[in-house]
Amino acid sequence: MDVISVSDARLPAGIGKTIRLRGWVRTRRDSKGGFSFLELNDGSCQGNVQVVCPGELPNYETVVKHLHTGASVIIDGEVKASPAKGQATEVHASAVALVGNADPETYPLQKKGHSFEFLRSIAHLRPRTNTFGAIARLRNRVCKSIHDFFQEQGFLYIHTPIITASDCEGAGALFRVSTLDAEKPPLAEGKVDFTRDFFHKPAFLTVSGQLQVESFACSMGKVYTFGPTFRAENSNTPRHLAEFWMIEPEMAFFDLTDNMNLAEAFLKRIIKDALEDCAEDMKFFAERVDKDVFARLENVLNNPFKRVPYTEAVDILLASDKTWEFPVAWGNDLQSEHERFLTEQHFKCPVILFDYPRTLKPFYMRVNDDGRTVRAMDVLVPGVGEIIGGSQREERLNVLEERMREQGLDPAGYDWYLDLRRYGTVPHAGFGLGLERTILFLSGMANIRDVIPFPRTPGSAEF
Ligand code: 4AD
Ligand code: MG
Repeated sequence: MDVISVSDARLPAGIGKTIRLRGWVRTRRDSKGGFSFLELNDGSCQGNVQVVCPGELPNYETVVKHLHTGASVIIDGEVKASPAKGQATEVHASAVALVGNADPETYPLQKKGHSFEFLRSIAHLRPRTNTFGAIARLRNRVCKSIHDFFQEQGFLYIHTPIITASDCEGAGALFRVSTLDAEKPPLAEGKVDFTRDFFHKPAFLTVSGQLQVESFACSMGKVYTFGPTFRAENSNTPRHLAEFWMIEPEMAFFDLTDNMNLAEAFLKRIIKDALEDCAEDMKFFAERVDKDVFARLENVLNNPFKRVPYTEAVDILLASDKTWEFPVAWGNDLQSEHERFLTEQHFKCPVILFDYPRTLKPFYMRVNDDGRTVRAMDVLVPGVGEIIGGSQREERLNVLEERMREQGLDPAGYDWYLDLRRYGTVPHAGFGLGLERTILFLSGMANIRDVIPFPRTPGSAEF
């Protein structure tokens, strides 16, 4: 007998087959006719399969009639065409084995809907709900898309380190990695002596794999890194996590326009794959989470991304009659309210802002001939705001060193990175896509804590 998934059991192709199913009971309903219906789910798809349990089963009274929401079971039976509306098949059980029951007095997930806030407090059980099952499947599919997209174009997947001594973004939002005794650290001249730490110097969790992946781009051409990144900024917003996943392609001989073209094609591919391969989950998001989700994704898929210099964006914001919480002026960073106005209200399509003031962006971005701006690009999408940040990199050694000093960084600490400019330097470019922001965008979910299995945010590292 074949063990099949609920997903396969729901397909008409299975009709007539004798099969085994393993999963969790979503609901049980007892019919007056002396039999029971189970709705069974195993995470393989959004929908459940209906299992008909006849009263003749030897354990019908003792077991079947005591199965509760959340119980795990193994069902043997036959897939049959279902007379009921909305389902092609149902399974007629010849045996029902209870694996583990779930006490309805204490099991926190009951049939009624639960708030996302409550579900965050039981993040270990929330994958059993429709929404979090859908998110997990979508996240999985998006990761496959990402690898497919790059692999098909000859990019190499590079594993960059999680522990690093360099602050890529220069923002100082780093988590320290240390084995020193926090209560009694060794001191030298009144300060903690990190030469006696594990790495003989200060070390941190990475905020980005970019600097290291650049060394592979400057050797092998087209590469990408895809891994967890960590930021110790105290941002309690629906779009920030302390631990998130980032995809960072880096390409030798690419300029900013090439970079924009790649970013646009990349996002469109992810959307297309999600719509095609996660149709049932996407329909669920449209019905239960965000009714505009399809319209928003079709809009992004079918329109060229609008490319706008930062300076022009500032003029647009200044000319609008909106009142801003954060003041708009050339040289000020754009805040979420500004980014979302541009993409959602002004252009009503994805926007790539580029050529930002040099003071706003990290040292590694290429300085433009005007001396005031750098070859930065941020991709903004409706519903989320910034989803991608990237740039053409500064390939000129002297300019790069000057930029480091300007930002208070010691070039000596980045000597290996500067070597890439000393020996066989090339123009190159890359960007970073936030995986969780991508899932927010695709699903219409409102809070980034609900699109990662176990969110880490200020004050919260549960589970
Ligand atoms: O714009 P960011 O900071 O760019 C970089 O780190 C570059 N080194 C990337 C590169 O050029 N290789 O981050 C890139 C993206 C953002 O656009 C956003 O989608 C996501 O990473 N991101 C976050 N996502 C969740 N929580 C946070 N705290 C995030 N910070 C950035
Ligand atoms: Mg950014």
